[in-house]
Amino acid sequence: MVANDIILTDDAADQLAAESAGHYDRMQVQLFKPAIRLADINPRSFKELSKEEFAGKMAYLTHYLHTRSNGASKYYEQEATEFVKQLLGPDVAENPTEVKQAFDALESEVMNVPFPTPKTARFKFIDLFAGIGGFRLAYQNLGGKCVFTSEWHPSSQQTYAANFGEVPFGDITRISETAIPDHDVLLAGFPCQPFSIAGVSKKTSLGREHGFKDETQGTLFFDVARIIDHKRPKAFMLENVKNLVSHDKKNTFRVICETLEELRYSIHYRVLDGKHFVPQHRERILIIGFDRDRYEGKEPFEFPELPRPTAVLEDILEKDVPAKYTLTNNLWKYLQDYAAKHKAAGNGFGFGLTPLDGIARTLSARYYKDGSEILIPQAPGENPRRLTPRECARLQGFPDSFMIPVADTPAYRQFGNSVVVPLMQVVGREVVKCL
Ligand SMILES: C[S@@+](CC[C@H](N)C(=O)[O-])C[C@H]1O[C@@H](n2cnc3c(N)ncnc32)[C@H](O)[C@@H]1O
Repeated sequence: MVANDIILTDDAADQLAAESAGHYDRMQVQLFKPAIRLADINPRSFKELSKEEFAGKMAYLTHYLHTRSNGASKYYEQEATEFVKQLLGPDVAENPTEVKQAFDALESEVMNVPFPTPKTARFKFIDLFAGIGGFRLAYQNLGGKCVFTSEWHPSSQQTYAANFGEVPFGDITRISETAIPDHDVLLAGFPCQPFSIAGVSKKTSLGREHGFKDETQGTLFFDVARIIDHKRPKAFMLENVKNLVSHDKKNTFRVICETLEELRYSIHYRVLDGKHFVPQHRERILIIGFDRDRYEGKEPFEFPELPRPTAVLEDILEKDVPAKYTLTNNLWKYLQDYAAKHKAAGNGFGFGLTPLDGIARTLSARYYKDGSEILIPQAPGENPRRLTPRECARLQGFPDSFMIPVADTPAYRQFGNSVVVPLMQVVGREVVKCL
């Protein structure tokens, strides 16, 4: 029998030791217990570390556990091993068998999640600005294995870890591109920020080879660009709001396209609507790039034809929704008065009362504030209600097996920031065909 075949709780180990008195004592039974469990690893035992530093250690550990059998493991092995030895304590830390057993037991735990990393993979990808892993879900479904992920928000990290068994690394601006494993596809839904015009003229006057560094420095797109530049993935898929194209008098989109071209990638972009898969009008721009050094601009990529939209709001509603989701009289009156005032002034539509056989407006990260953009009509005489977090998950195309381990407010923010998973998947399928 292999030690890590058996996972005994402390009580069970005591009981077994008692029952088998004369044959085994408590210490021998201890041998069959995993030395560490994920639940035992918590920040309280590491008072010298900030929460961020502790999350960083967990990121190394969980990334290592997901990559032990492939080349990416070397990026995480040393930090993960030091951490595990620290957890095991000085008595056993120098015993390689104990360390391996600890990793084996932890590995089976991190794989025991709703969306475990596939053991074998057709390709590798990285998940930047990962949020709760909408991109990851789509690309795992396409046969990919994630080898690096970054997301700095603690509650999004919590949701991500609960579903994928991996704690994302934090602030991408502080992660060197050399610390990221090789991958075939880079995925990123980066926040949209303006680029300084000053940077553009500085680049022109200095005639630098890598203009993108001058033009994009200090923005999160710069971090995407420097990783592409160093790692040279075969392809990337970037996602952003539709307004990226018109943002800052079109300067933002121009700098992005020029930068990606300068990095020798051929670009395909299109604004696509999530309504083809879910009952939500959500237009997002997808920018797909392929390495010109490899494909010479001849990749057979085309955006797919999207199915006719058929989903309606009713399809995603839960039954027996708790009363707390119904708007209070005060809030409902406030929203109606506000809408009436703006209508009189000739601007804005106010709240979005959505017919059950219709489709919702775009779910935003601010939905938790008053829910006004998507309200569900109820029985006559009853105030409308807002969506539940589970309904928001469905509105973004997440399956019901996706765990929501956080409170309503962060859950609304996380789903509002996320992507329509099936839309990413159908476009991703066309990307993967080219790899
Ligand atoms: C538009 S959301 C992307 C959501 C993701 N595509 C999903 O499916 O959930 C952008 C994410 O970038 C994260 N973010 C912003 N700045 C960051 C940084 N410097 N380092 C890491 N993550 C960052 C935010 O917390 C947010 O979750």
